[in-house]
Amino acid sequence: MKLLLASNNGGKLREFRSVLESAGFRIYSLADAGVAVEVVEDGATFSENALKKARTVAAEAAAGGEFDAVIADDSGICADALGGAPGVFSARYSERGDDANNEKILREMRDKADRRAHFVCALAICFRDGREEVIEERWDGEIANQSMGSGGFGYDRVFVPEGFEVTSAQLSPEVKNKISHRAKCLQQLIFRLRE
Ligand code: IMP
Repeated sequence: MKLLLASNNGGKLREFRSVLESAGFRIYSLADAGVAVEVVEDGATFSENALKKARTVAAEAAAGGEFDAVIADDSGICADALGGAPGVFSARYSERGDDANNEKILREMRDKADRRAHFVCALAICFRDGREEVIEERWDGEIANQSMGSGGFGYDRVFVPEGFEVTSAQLSPEVKNKISHRAKCLQQLIFRLRE
């Protein structure tokens, strides 16, 4: 089965490939497929944004007709003490990229006793026959007091998953890809694709 991932995020692409290719699926990025689209992520929820990305790319890729499904992930981190921020604005939190996003969340959380936070992943699937599905999962943990580790991407250096004393950037990819918000969505995706 050939799947087109509606993303240009290298960190996400690595995780999708690692999980889905070992399950026997072939993953193509937008660059691989020669699809260039700009999707404005203006939805109020992760699911709305994921579905919008998948639909836009599916409409664009339909002309080629070579993919069995288009999948899109919209994800982010929500801190309880910040009222769920940055949430759907995670990618644009500082407007200056991952390092500045991490600095900003550590700064905003500096005086907060309640460190609880969770990642959310919404995964939208547009099948070639027009069926659509959205899967949403979360990964609970806390915001660290400082940035630690060098693995993963995005907010991994400031997120300590429940049950661990290290950040998700300090976990091996094998471990993160079994337990993360995205990993849980991908396990369900594999199940649906094999149905
Ligand atoms: P999106 O590409 O619009 O979905 O934005 C996702 C945002 O959440 C980006 O800032 C990512 O870095 C961040 N993010 C999503 N998933 C993860 C993860 O697994 N680890 C770290 N950051 C993540």
